[in-house]
Amino acid sequence: MTHSSPEDRSPVLEIIGGHRLSGEVRISGAKNSALVLMAGSLLCSQDCRIRNVPSLADVARMGEVLSALGVKITRKDDALEIDARHLSQSKAPYELVSQLRASFFIIGPLLARLGIARIPLPGGCAIGARPVDLHVRGLQAMGADVQIEHGTVHACIPGVNRRLKGARIYLDYPSVGATETLMMAATLADGETILENAAQEPEVVDLANFCRAMGARIRGAGTNTIVISGVPSLHSVDYAVIPDRVEVGTFLVAGAITQSELSLAPVVPDHLTAVIAKLRAIGSEVVQETPSRLRIVPGTSRLGTDIETLPYPGFPTDMQAQFMALLTLSEGDSIITETVFENRMGHVAELNRMGADIRTKGNHAVIRGVPFLTGAPVVATDLRASAALVLAGLAARGTTIIQGLHHLDRGYDDLEGKLKLLGAQIRRVKGDTGAESVSSLPVMPRS
Ligand code: EPZ
Repeated sequence: MTHSSPEDRSPVLEIIGGHRLSGEVRISGAKNSALVLMAGSLLCSQDCRIRNVPSLADVARMGEVLSALGVKITRKDDALEIDARHLSQSKAPYELVSQLRASFFIIGPLLARLGIARIPLPGGCAIGARPVDLHVRGLQAMGADVQIEHGTVHACIPGVNRRLKGARIYLDYPSVGATETLMMAATLADGETILENAAQEPEVVDLANFCRAMGARIRGAGTNTIVISGVPSLHSVDYAVIPDRVEVGTFLVAGAITQSELSLAPVVPDHLTAVIAKLRAIGSEVVQETPSRLRIVPGTSRLGTDIETLPYPGFPTDMQAQFMALLTLSEGDSIITETVFENRMGHVAELNRMGADIRTKGNHAVIRGVPFLTGAPVVATDLRASAALVLAGLAARGTTIIQGLHHLDRGYDDLEGKLKLLGAQIRRVKGDTGAESVSSLPVMPRS
Protein backbone atom coordinates (compact mmCIF):
# COMPACT_ATOMS: atom_id res chain seq x y z
CA MET A 1 0.00 0.00 0.00
CA THR A 2 1.59 3.24 -1.13
CA HIS A 3 0.85 6.17 1.15
CA SER A 4 0.28 9.47 -0.65
CA SER A 5 3.34 11.72 -0.97
CA PRO A 6 3.81 14.58 1.53
CA GLU A 7 3.17 17.09 -1.26
CA ASP A 8 -0.26 15.50 -1.91
CA ARG A 9 -2.60 18.37 -1.04
CA SER A 10 -5.86 16.55 -1.80
CA PRO A 11 -8.37 16.90 1.04
CA VAL A 12 -8.47 14.32 3.80
CA LEU A 13 -11.04 13.43 6.43
CA GLU A 14 -10.08 14.03 10.05
CA ILE A 15 -12.11 12.04 12.58
CA ILE A 16 -11.82 12.24 16.36
CA GLY A 17 -13.30 8.96 17.48
CA GLY A 18 -14.98 7.60 20.57
CA HIS A 19 -18.12 9.74 20.45
CA ARG A 20 -21.66 8.35 20.62
CA LEU A 21 -23.97 9.42 17.81
CA SER A 22 -27.69 10.14 17.97
CA GLY A 23 -30.54 11.34 15.82
CA GLU A 24 -32.06 10.61 12.41
CA VAL A 25 -30.35 10.18 9.04
CA ARG A 26 -32.03 11.08 5.73
CA ILE A 27 -31.11 8.37 3.22
CA SER A 28 -30.35 9.40 -0.37
CA GLY A 29 -31.36 7.70 -3.62
CA ALA A 30 -29.44 4.56 -4.63
CA LYS A 31 -26.22 5.13 -6.61
CA ASN A 32 -26.42 1.73 -8.30
CA SER A 33 -29.96 2.41 -9.41
CA ALA A 34 -29.57 6.05 -10.47
CA LEU A 35 -26.61 5.18 -12.71
CA VAL A 36 -28.41 2.44 -14.62
CA LEU A 37 -31.66 4.42 -14.86
CA MET A 38 -29.64 7.20 -16.52
CA ALA A 39 -28.35 4.60 -19.00
CA GLY A 40 -31.93 3.35 -19.44
CA SER A 41 -33.14 6.83 -20.39
CA LEU A 42 -31.28 6.33 -23.71
CA LEU A 43 -34.01 3.84 -24.66
CA CYS A 44 -36.59 6.60 -24.71
CA SER A 45 -37.04 8.92 -27.72
CA GLN A 46 -38.86 11.44 -25.51
CA ASP A 47 -37.82 13.19 -22.29
CA CYS A 48 -37.47 11.57 -18.87
CA ARG A 49 -37.40 12.93 -15.35
CA ILE A 50 -35.53 10.90 -12.75
CA ARG A 51 -36.02 12.12 -9.16
CA ASN A 52 -34.30 11.31 -5.83
CA VAL A 53 -30.91 11.19 -7.63
CA PRO A 54 -27.97 11.36 -5.17
CA SER A 55 -25.26 14.03 -5.57
CA LEU A 56 -22.27 11.85 -6.38
CA ALA A 57 -19.18 12.04 -8.57
CA ASP A 58 -20.32 8.90 -10.40
CA VAL A 59 -23.69 10.46 -11.27
CA ALA A 60 -21.97 13.57 -12.61
CA ARG A 61 -19.68 11.37 -14.70
CA MET A 62 -22.58 9.37 -16.15
CA GLY A 63 -24.17 12.70 -17.05
CA GLU A 64 -21.00 13.63 -18.96
CA VAL A 65 -21.15 10.32 -20.85
CA LEU A 66 -24.77 10.95 -21.87
CA SER A 67 -23.98 14.53 -22.94
CA ALA A 68 -21.10 13.23 -25.07
CA LEU A 69 -23.67 11.11 -26.93
CA GLY A 70 -25.81 14.13 -27.75
CA VAL A 71 -28.29 13.80 -24.87
CA LYS A 72 -29.60 16.95 -23.20
CA ILE A 73 -29.34 16.54 -19.41
CA THR A 74 -29.98 19.11 -16.69
CA ARG A 75 -30.13 18.78 -12.92
CA LYS A 76 -32.51 20.67 -10.61
CA ASP A 77 -32.17 19.77 -6.93
CA ASP A 78 -32.41 15.97 -6.79
CA ALA A 79 -34.06 15.61 -10.21
CA LEU A 80 -32.50 14.98 -13.62
CA GLU A 81 -34.28 16.10 -16.80
CA ILE A 82 -32.99 13.87 -19.59
CA ASP A 83 -33.90 14.37 -23.24
CA ALA A 84 -32.46 11.60 -25.42
CA ARG A 85 -34.53 12.27 -28.51
CA HIS A 86 -31.44 13.82 -30.20
CA LEU A 87 -29.18 10.88 -29.36
CA SER A 88 -26.66 11.05 -32.21
CA GLN A 89 -23.34 9.56 -31.15
CA SER A 90 -22.78 5.79 -30.94
CA LYS A 91 -19.26 6.08 -29.57
CA ALA A 92 -18.61 6.81 -25.87
CA PRO A 93 -15.35 8.63 -24.97
CA TYR A 94 -12.64 6.44 -23.39
CA GLU A 95 -11.58 9.11 -20.89
CA LEU A 96 -15.09 9.00 -19.35
CA VAL A 97 -15.87 5.27 -19.55
CA SER A 98 -12.49 4.37 -18.06
CA GLN A 99 -13.37 6.40 -14.97
CA LEU A 100 -16.85 4.93 -14.50
CA ARG A 101 -17.32 1.20 -15.09
CA ALA A 102 -21.09 1.46 -14.91
CA SER A 103 -21.10 3.60 -18.06
CA PHE A 104 -20.40 0.39 -19.99
CA PHE A 105 -24.03 -0.59 -19.32
CA ILE A 106 -25.10 2.01 -21.96
CA ILE A 107 -24.06 -0.52 -24.64
CA GLY A 108 -27.47 -2.24 -24.35
CA PRO A 109 -29.77 0.81 -24.76
CA LEU A 110 -27.47 2.45 -27.33
CA LEU A 111 -27.40 -0.65 -29.53
CA ALA A 112 -31.17 -1.10 -29.18
CA ARG A 113 -31.84 2.58 -30.08
CA LEU A 114 -29.24 3.20 -32.82
CA GLY A 115 -28.39 -0.32 -34.05
CA ILE A 116 -24.72 0.41 -33.35
CA ALA A 117 -22.62 1.09 -30.25
CA ARG A 118 -18.88 1.53 -29.72
CA ILE A 119 -17.95 1.46 -26.04
CA PRO A 120 -14.41 1.32 -24.66
CA LEU A 121 -13.76 -1.69 -22.42
CA PRO A 122 -14.08 -0.36 -18.88
CA GLY A 123 -11.03 -2.31 -17.67
CA GLY A 124 -10.44 -3.61 -14.17
CA CYS A 125 -10.49 -1.69 -10.89
CA ALA A 126 -9.15 -2.05 -7.35
CA ILE A 127 -11.62 -4.81 -6.48
CA GLY A 128 -11.27 -7.04 -9.52
CA ALA A 129 -10.73 -7.66 -13.24
CA ARG A 130 -14.41 -6.88 -13.91
CA PRO A 131 -14.77 -8.60 -17.34
CA VAL A 132 -17.83 -7.89 -19.55
CA ASP A 133 -17.99 -11.25 -21.36
CA LEU A 134 -21.55 -11.95 -20.12
CA HIS A 135 -22.79 -8.63 -21.52
CA VAL A 136 -21.15 -9.35 -24.89
CA ARG A 137 -22.33 -12.96 -25.16
CA GLY A 138 -25.91 -11.94 -24.35
CA LEU A 139 -25.94 -9.25 -27.05
CA GLN A 140 -24.51 -11.75 -29.56
CA ALA A 141 -27.33 -14.17 -28.65
CA MET A 142 -29.78 -11.38 -29.57
CA GLY A 143 -28.23 -11.16 -33.05
CA ALA A 144 -25.67 -8.40 -32.57
CA ASP A 145 -22.30 -8.63 -34.26
CA VAL A 146 -19.81 -7.79 -31.49
CA GLN A 147 -16.06 -7.37 -32.00
CA ILE A 148 -13.49 -6.17 -29.48
CA GLU A 149 -10.74 -4.19 -31.19
CA HIS A 150 -8.18 -1.76 -29.79
CA GLY A 151 -9.79 -1.85 -26.36
CA THR A 152 -13.25 -0.96 -27.70
CA VAL A 153 -16.36 -3.12 -27.99
CA HIS A 154 -17.87 -2.59 -31.45
CA ALA A 155 -21.45 -3.82 -31.55
CA CYS A 156 -23.84 -3.49 -34.48
CA ILE A 157 -27.05 -5.12 -35.64
CA PRO A 158 -26.75 -6.53 -39.17
CA GLY A 159 -29.71 -6.38 -41.56
CA VAL A 160 -32.08 -3.65 -42.70
CA ASN A 161 -34.35 -3.07 -39.73
CA ARG A 162 -31.35 -3.09 -37.36
CA ARG A 163 -33.42 -4.53 -34.52
CA LEU A 164 -32.20 -7.04 -31.95
CA LYS A 165 -34.06 -10.37 -31.80
CA GLY A 166 -35.55 -11.94 -28.70
CA ALA A 167 -33.48 -14.84 -27.34
CA ARG A 168 -33.19 -17.28 -24.43
CA ILE A 169 -30.05 -16.36 -22.50
CA TYR A 170 -28.60 -18.30 -19.55
CA LEU A 171 -26.13 -16.20 -17.52
CA ASP A 172 -23.19 -18.25 -16.20
CA TYR A 173 -23.17 -15.90 -13.21
CA PRO A 174 -26.08 -13.70 -11.96
CA SER A 175 -24.18 -10.55 -12.91
CA VAL A 176 -26.02 -7.33 -11.99
CA GLY A 177 -24.56 -5.36 -14.87
CA ALA A 178 -25.08 -8.05 -17.51
CA THR A 179 -28.71 -8.56 -16.39
CA GLU A 180 -29.33 -4.81 -16.61
CA THR A 181 -27.59 -4.38 -19.99
CA LEU A 182 -29.49 -7.28 -21.59
CA MET A 183 -32.83 -6.39 -20.02
CA MET A 184 -32.53 -2.85 -21.43
CA ALA A 185 -31.48 -4.13 -24.87
CA ALA A 186 -34.41 -6.58 -24.96
CA THR A 187 -37.06 -3.90 -24.28
CA LEU A 188 -36.85 -2.73 -27.94
CA ALA A 189 -36.03 -6.13 -29.50
CA ASP A 190 -38.19 -8.02 -31.94
CA GLY A 191 -39.79 -10.83 -29.92
CA GLU A 192 -39.38 -12.27 -26.44
CA THR A 193 -36.17 -12.54 -24.44
CA ILE A 194 -35.81 -14.84 -21.42
CA LEU A 195 -32.93 -14.11 -19.04
CA GLU A 196 -32.16 -17.15 -16.90
CA ASN A 197 -29.99 -17.13 -13.76
CA ALA A 198 -30.57 -13.38 -13.78
CA ALA A 199 -29.47 -11.07 -10.96
CA GLN A 200 -32.25 -10.34 -8.43
CA GLU A 201 -30.86 -7.16 -6.84
CA PRO A 202 -33.33 -4.37 -5.89
CA GLU A 203 -31.57 -2.11 -8.40
CA VAL A 204 -32.43 -4.58 -11.19
CA VAL A 205 -36.09 -4.42 -10.08
CA ASP A 206 -35.95 -0.61 -9.97
CA LEU A 207 -34.62 -0.55 -13.54
CA ALA A 208 -37.38 -2.93 -14.69
CA ASN A 209 -40.01 -0.69 -13.03
CA PHE A 210 -38.47 2.38 -14.69
CA CYS A 211 -38.58 0.70 -18.13
CA ARG A 212 -42.14 -0.54 -17.54
CA ALA A 213 -43.17 3.02 -16.62
CA MET A 214 -41.85 3.98 -20.10
CA GLY A 215 -44.02 1.26 -21.69
CA ALA A 216 -41.69 -1.75 -21.65
CA ARG A 217 -43.12 -5.22 -21.12
CA ILE A 218 -41.06 -6.98 -18.43
CA ARG A 219 -42.05 -9.82 -16.08
CA GLY A 220 -40.12 -11.59 -13.32
CA ALA A 221 -37.63 -8.89 -12.28
CA GLY A 222 -36.48 -9.77 -8.77
CA THR A 223 -36.52 -13.49 -9.58
CA ASN A 224 -33.83 -15.50 -11.41
CA THR A 225 -35.90 -15.57 -14.62
CA ILE A 226 -36.84 -12.32 -16.37
CA VAL A 227 -39.07 -12.29 -19.48
CA ILE A 228 -39.01 -9.22 -21.75
CA SER A 229 -41.40 -8.84 -24.70
CA GLY A 230 -39.93 -6.25 -27.05
CA VAL A 231 -41.92 -3.14 -28.08
CA PRO A 232 -41.23 -0.71 -30.98
CA SER A 233 -40.58 2.35 -28.77
CA LEU A 234 -40.81 3.78 -25.24
CA HIS A 235 -42.38 7.00 -23.98
CA SER A 236 -41.49 9.71 -21.47
CA VAL A 237 -41.59 9.04 -17.73
CA ASP A 238 -41.28 10.72 -14.32
CA TYR A 239 -39.70 8.25 -11.91
CA ALA A 240 -38.12 8.28 -8.43
CA VAL A 241 -35.04 6.19 -7.56
CA ILE A 242 -35.24 3.75 -4.60
CA PRO A 243 -33.36 4.56 -1.35
CA ASP A 244 -29.72 3.43 -1.22
CA ARG A 245 -29.62 0.15 0.73
CA VAL A 246 -25.80 0.31 0.97
CA GLU A 247 -25.96 3.78 2.53
CA VAL A 248 -28.59 2.43 4.96
CA GLY A 249 -26.33 -0.53 5.81
CA THR A 250 -23.37 1.81 6.33
CA PHE A 251 -25.31 3.96 8.82
CA LEU A 252 -26.67 0.88 10.63
CA VAL A 253 -23.05 -0.20 11.15
CA ALA A 254 -22.18 3.36 12.27
CA GLY A 255 -24.76 2.90 15.03
CA ALA A 256 -23.47 -0.56 16.01
CA ILE A 257 -19.74 0.34 15.95
CA THR A 258 -20.24 3.49 18.09
CA GLN A 259 -22.90 1.78 20.24
CA SER A 260 -25.36 4.52 19.31
CA GLU A 261 -29.12 4.52 18.72
CA LEU A 262 -29.96 5.95 15.28
CA SER A 263 -33.04 6.28 13.06
CA LEU A 264 -32.86 6.01 9.28
CA ALA A 265 -35.42 7.00 6.63
CA PRO A 266 -36.53 6.48 3.92
CA VAL A 267 -35.62 2.80 3.83
CA VAL A 268 -37.02 -0.32 2.14
CA PRO A 269 -36.43 -2.84 4.98
CA ASP A 270 -36.86 -5.87 2.70
CA HIS A 271 -33.77 -4.78 0.78
CA LEU A 272 -31.67 -5.30 3.93
CA THR A 273 -32.77 -8.71 5.19
CA ALA A 274 -29.27 -10.27 5.11
CA VAL A 275 -27.63 -7.17 6.63
CA ILE A 276 -30.18 -6.91 9.46
CA ALA A 277 -29.83 -10.64 10.20
CA LYS A 278 -26.06 -10.24 10.63
CA LEU A 279 -26.44 -7.16 12.86
CA ARG A 280 -28.80 -9.14 15.08
CA ALA A 281 -26.33 -12.07 15.15
CA ILE A 282 -23.66 -9.63 16.33
CA GLY A 283 -25.97 -8.45 19.14
CA SER A 284 -27.52 -5.22 17.88
CA GLU A 285 -31.27 -4.75 17.64
CA VAL A 286 -32.81 -3.37 14.45
CA VAL A 287 -36.39 -2.17 14.83
CA GLN A 288 -38.75 -1.37 11.97
CA GLU A 289 -40.45 1.74 13.34
CA THR A 290 -42.59 2.35 10.24
CA PRO A 291 -42.78 0.74 6.77
CA SER A 292 -39.96 3.06 5.66
CA ARG A 293 -38.02 3.80 8.89
CA LEU A 294 -35.50 1.65 10.77
CA ARG A 295 -33.90 2.17 14.17
CA ILE A 296 -30.67 0.57 15.30
CA VAL A 297 -30.37 -0.07 19.04
CA PRO A 298 -26.94 -1.21 20.24
CA GLY A 299 -26.83 -4.47 22.21
CA THR A 300 -24.89 -5.13 25.40
CA SER A 301 -22.54 -7.50 23.63
CA ARG A 302 -20.79 -7.50 20.27
CA LEU A 303 -20.33 -11.07 19.17
CA GLY A 304 -18.22 -12.40 16.33
CA THR A 305 -19.99 -13.95 13.31
CA ASP A 306 -19.07 -15.45 9.96
CA ILE A 307 -20.08 -13.76 6.71
CA GLU A 308 -19.96 -14.97 3.10
CA THR A 309 -20.78 -12.44 0.39
CA LEU A 310 -23.19 -13.66 -2.30
CA PRO A 311 -25.47 -12.33 -5.03
CA TYR A 312 -28.79 -10.92 -3.72
CA PRO A 313 -30.63 -11.97 -1.59
CA GLY A 314 -27.35 -13.21 -0.06
CA PHE A 315 -25.10 -10.91 2.01
CA PRO A 316 -24.04 -7.94 -0.19
CA THR A 317 -20.38 -7.61 -1.14
CA ASP A 318 -20.91 -3.81 -0.92
CA MET A 319 -21.32 -4.18 2.87
CA GLN A 320 -18.38 -6.54 3.42
CA ALA A 321 -15.78 -3.90 4.33
CA GLN A 322 -18.09 -2.04 6.71
CA PHE A 323 -18.90 -5.26 8.60
CA MET A 324 -15.21 -6.12 8.76
CA ALA A 325 -14.60 -2.81 10.54
CA LEU A 326 -17.41 -3.64 13.00
CA LEU A 327 -16.17 -7.18 13.64
CA THR A 328 -12.67 -5.94 14.54
CA LEU A 329 -14.22 -4.81 17.86
CA SER A 330 -16.26 -7.95 18.59
CA GLU A 331 -15.78 -10.19 21.61
CA GLY A 332 -14.73 -13.17 19.51
CA ASP A 333 -13.45 -14.33 16.16
CA SER A 334 -15.12 -14.01 12.77
CA ILE A 335 -14.41 -15.23 9.25
CA ILE A 336 -15.38 -13.18 6.22
CA THR A 337 -15.36 -14.85 2.79
CA GLU A 338 -15.60 -12.62 -0.28
CA THR A 339 -17.01 -14.67 -3.19
CA VAL A 340 -18.22 -11.95 -5.59
CA PHE A 341 -15.00 -10.01 -6.29
CA GLU A 342 -11.52 -11.49 -6.35
CA ASN A 343 -9.66 -8.56 -4.80
CA ARG A 344 -11.88 -6.80 -2.26
CA MET A 345 -9.71 -6.84 0.84
CA GLY A 346 -7.85 -3.56 0.32
CA HIS A 347 -9.16 -2.24 3.67
CA VAL A 348 -7.50 -5.04 5.73
CA ALA A 349 -4.03 -3.51 5.94
CA GLU A 350 -5.44 -0.10 6.86
CA LEU A 351 -7.69 -1.51 9.61
CA ASN A 352 -4.64 -3.36 10.97
CA ARG A 353 -2.81 0.01 11.03
CA MET A 354 -5.56 1.09 13.45
CA GLY A 355 -4.83 -1.87 15.73
CA ALA A 356 -7.19 -4.48 14.30
CA ASP A 357 -6.11 -8.14 14.14
CA ILE A 358 -7.05 -9.42 10.67
CA ARG A 359 -5.24 -12.12 8.69
CA THR A 360 -6.16 -13.00 5.14
CA LYS A 361 -5.75 -16.12 3.02
CA GLY A 362 -7.06 -15.88 -0.50
CA ASN A 363 -10.61 -14.55 -0.28
CA HIS A 364 -10.93 -15.37 3.43
CA ALA A 365 -10.23 -12.96 6.29
CA VAL A 366 -9.94 -14.13 9.89
CA ILE A 367 -10.81 -11.31 12.30
CA ARG A 368 -9.83 -11.65 15.95
CA GLY A 369 -11.78 -9.11 17.99
CA VAL A 370 -9.72 -6.48 19.88
CA PRO A 371 -10.86 -4.27 22.79
CA PHE A 372 -10.24 -1.01 20.94
CA LEU A 373 -8.89 0.62 17.78
CA THR A 374 -6.58 3.60 17.70
CA GLY A 375 -6.61 6.58 15.33
CA ALA A 376 -4.00 6.53 12.52
CA PRO A 377 -3.32 7.95 9.04
CA VAL A 378 -4.91 5.56 6.54
CA VAL A 379 -5.59 5.45 2.80
CA ALA A 380 -8.85 4.39 1.12
CA THR A 381 -8.35 1.92 -1.74
CA ASP A 382 -11.92 1.81 -3.08
CA LEU A 383 -15.41 3.11 -2.39
CA ARG A 384 -16.58 0.70 0.32
CA ALA A 385 -13.11 0.45 1.87
CA SER A 386 -13.30 4.23 2.43
CA ALA A 387 -16.62 3.80 4.26
CA ALA A 388 -15.09 1.08 6.46
CA LEU A 389 -12.23 3.41 7.44
CA VAL A 390 -14.69 6.19 8.34
CA LEU A 391 -16.62 3.74 10.56
CA ALA A 392 -13.42 2.52 12.22
CA GLY A 393 -12.34 6.12 12.75
CA LEU A 394 -15.66 6.93 14.50
CA ALA A 395 -15.00 4.13 17.01
CA ALA A 396 -11.23 4.53 17.41
CA ARG A 397 -9.40 6.25 20.25
CA GLY A 398 -7.75 9.43 19.00
CA THR A 399 -7.60 10.94 15.54
CA THR A 400 -7.85 9.15 12.21
CA ILE A 401 -6.84 10.84 8.96
CA ILE A 402 -8.29 9.29 5.81
CA GLN A 403 -6.73 9.96 2.42
CA GLY A 404 -8.18 8.95 -0.96
CA LEU A 405 -11.54 10.71 -0.57
CA HIS A 406 -12.19 10.58 -4.31
CA HIS A 407 -13.28 7.00 -3.64
CA LEU A 408 -15.76 8.08 -0.96
CA ASP A 409 -17.21 10.90 -3.07
CA ARG A 410 -17.99 8.48 -5.85
CA GLY A 411 -20.68 6.74 -3.85
CA TYR A 412 -21.69 8.60 -0.66
CA ASP A 413 -23.86 11.74 -0.75
CA ASP A 414 -22.33 14.05 1.90
CA LEU A 415 -21.43 11.27 4.35
CA GLU A 416 -19.43 13.53 6.66
CA GLY A 417 -22.21 16.17 6.69
CA LYS A 418 -24.77 13.56 7.72
CA LEU A 419 -22.41 12.15 10.38
CA LYS A 420 -21.70 15.62 11.74
CA LEU A 421 -25.47 16.12 12.21
CA LEU A 422 -25.44 12.96 14.33
CA GLY A 423 -22.72 14.40 16.56
CA ALA A 424 -19.60 12.92 14.96
CA GLN A 425 -16.33 14.84 15.28
CA ILE A 426 -15.46 14.76 11.60
CA ARG A 427 -14.22 17.35 9.14
CA ARG A 428 -12.69 17.56 5.68
CA VAL A 429 -9.37 19.38 5.71
CA LYS A 430 -6.72 20.26 3.17
CA GLY A 431 -4.23 17.39 2.76
CA ASP A 432 -1.11 19.04 4.15
CA THR A 433 -2.72 20.25 7.39
CA GLY A 434 -4.05 16.83 8.27
CA ALA A 435 -1.58 14.33 6.89
CA GLU A 436 1.62 15.98 8.13
CA SER A 437 0.34 16.65 11.62
CA VAL A 438 -0.86 13.08 12.08
CA SER A 439 1.42 11.05 9.84
CA SER A 440 4.16 11.86 12.33
CA LEU A 441 2.06 10.21 15.04
CA PRO A 442 3.50 6.74 15.84
CA VAL A 443 1.10 3.88 15.07
CA MET A 444 0.07 2.41 18.42
CA PRO A 445 1.22 -1.25 18.68
CA ARG A 446 -1.63 -3.72 19.31
CA SER A 447 -1.90 -4.15 23.08
C1 EPZ B 1 -22.70 -4.02 -9.57
O1 EPZ B 1 -21.47 -4.14 -10.26
C2 EPZ B 1 -22.54 -2.83 -8.62
N1 EPZ B 1 -22.21 -1.65 -9.40
C3 EPZ B 1 -21.40 -3.12 -7.65
O2 EPZ B 1 -21.33 -2.04 -6.70
C4 EPZ B 1 -21.72 -4.37 -6.86
O3 EPZ B 1 -20.64 -4.70 -6.03
C5 EPZ B 1 -21.95 -5.54 -7.85
O4 EPZ B 1 -22.99 -5.20 -8.79
C6 EPZ B 1 -22.37 -6.81 -7.14
O5 EPZ B 1 -23.48 -6.61 -6.36
C7 EPZ B 1 -23.23 -1.00 -10.04
O6 EPZ B 1 -24.38 -1.38 -10.02
C8 EPZ B 1 -22.85 0.24 -10.77
P1 EPZ B 1 -21.50 -7.95 -11.40
P2 EPZ B 1 -21.35 -5.09 -11.56
O7 EPZ B 1 -21.56 -7.88 -12.88
O8 EPZ B 1 -22.62 -5.09 -12.27
C9 EPZ B 1 -18.20 -11.12 -12.71
C10 EPZ B 1 -20.30 -0.42 -5.32
O9 EPZ B 1 -19.50 -0.51 -4.36
N2 EPZ B 1 -18.61 -10.82 -14.11
O10 EPZ B 1 -22.65 -8.50 -10.68
O11 EPZ B 1 -20.14 -4.73 -12.27
C11 EPZ B 1 -17.46 -9.93 -12.09
O12 EPZ B 1 -16.11 -9.91 -12.43
C12 EPZ B 1 -20.12 -1.28 -6.60
O13 EPZ B 1 -21.29 0.33 -5.32
C13 EPZ B 1 -18.08 -11.59 -15.14
O14 EPZ B 1 -17.29 -12.50 -14.91
O15 EPZ B 1 -21.16 -6.50 -10.82
C14 EPZ B 1 -17.68 -10.15 -10.61
O16 EPZ B 1 -16.71 -11.02 -10.11
C15 EPZ B 1 -18.85 -2.06 -6.57
N3 EPZ B 1 -18.44 -11.28 -16.41
C16 EPZ B 1 -19.06 -10.78 -10.58
O17 EPZ B 1 -19.35 -11.25 -11.89
C17 EPZ B 1 -19.32 -10.27 -16.72
O18 EPZ B 1 -19.62 -10.03 -17.89
C18 EPZ B 1 -20.15 -9.80 -10.15
O19 EPZ B 1 -20.15 -8.72 -11.01
C19 EPZ B 1 -19.85 -9.51 -15.65
C20 EPZ B 1 -19.48 -9.80 -14.35
